[in-house]
Amino acid sequence: MNRRITIAITGASGVLYSIRLLRYLMMKEFDVDLIISDAGKITCKLEVGFDSEKETMAEFLKTRFGSSAMRGKIREFDNASIAAPMASGSVRRLGMIVIPCSMKTLSALANGASSNLIERSADVALKENYPLIVVPRETPMNAIQIENMLKLAKAGAKIVPAMPAFYQQPATLDDLADFIAGRVLNLLGIDDHGLFNNWGN
Ligand SMILES: Cc1cc2nc3c(=O)[nH]c(=O)nc-3n(C[C@H](O)[C@H](O)[C@H](O)COP(=O)(O)O)c2cc1C
Repeated sequence: MNRRITIAITGASGVLYSIRLLRYLMMKEFDVDLIISDAGKITCKLEVGFDSEKETMAEFLKTRFGSSAMRGKIREFDNASIAAPMASGSVRRLGMIVIPCSMKTLSALANGASSNLIERSADVALKENYPLIVVPRETPMNAIQIENMLKLAKAGAKIVPAMPAFYQQPATLDDLADFIAGRVLNLLGIDDHGLFNNWGN
């Protein structure tokens, strides 16, 4: 299995979803290329206390989850580095996940804007036909936002709205976030993640 994955964190609420996904990917020795938008850096700080000016994401994950979260590798890329490897289709990836995805980035992806590394990498995923999974978060949504999701889904992206389920009887915020992380992993063909009990198992 190709173990290289691109993760993008944008400025929508719900950074915990990406943190729980990163925790899993690091524990399972994946190679993550991480891009955080400027607005994402603000929500990271506000919601989970990750300050990208003071530490790397790898350091943050190690402090939060211990050495088991250091088994994989994270390379961090500036959203302005339009010449980074994932801006080219020549190296295939297991997939790209935008988690959480703001309505602004959703709009850019739906319209092929490609004006920064997150947008360009998503455009590349669609043209190279490897999975692009988008976790949009906003409520309520207007017609433009709903149309952008439809447009992106028609272009081949998988839309996984940040809508955790409650039939799993989540006890903690981590349980809620793990449900979304697990649904994303399902779409990458990783079903044995154990982040929630599969219905009927
Ligand atoms: C605390 C905070 C929470 C936000 N939550 C959302 C949200 O849930 N969904 C959304 O679409 N935008 C949200 N925004 C607004 C986006 O951050 C803003 O539109 C930004 O331009 C997105 O840029 P990006 O897509 O490059 O990250 C939030 C902003 C802040 C400061």
